[in-house]
Amino acid sequence: MPKIEADTATGVESFDALENRKLVLAIKDAGIDILHRCGGNAKCTTCRVEIIEGDVEPMQELERERLAREDKLEPNTRLSCQIRVHNDLHIKVLRQASVTGLEPGTVPAE
Ligand code: FES
Repeated sequence: MPKIEADTATGVESFDALENRKLVLAIKDAGIDILHRCGGNAKCTTCRVEIIEGDVEPMQELERERLAREDKLEPNTRLSCQIRVHNDLHIKVLRQASVTGLEPGTVPAE
């Protein structure tokens, strides 16, 4: 089972993720209040994470096009709703409900 280490606004969380689970859902399962305002459709970018260490799937066209419209992205930024977990990862969660004051949004489909 892949292990995730996530830097959050309140510290570092470590948890196991189900193989092939969407990263945004694995983060949410761990009790981290990551935003996912468009429901996992690669439209809002609020589920963005920084990949600090570990291998993730290559970026697909939908994610690439959406991120290309953003200014000043943190390095190695990915949309966690567009990634499935297959390996151990160290990530940084970049948008949280408790920090932004926003509602998390519709839960992405499995
Ligand atoms: S881009 Fe909106 S939830 Fe991922």
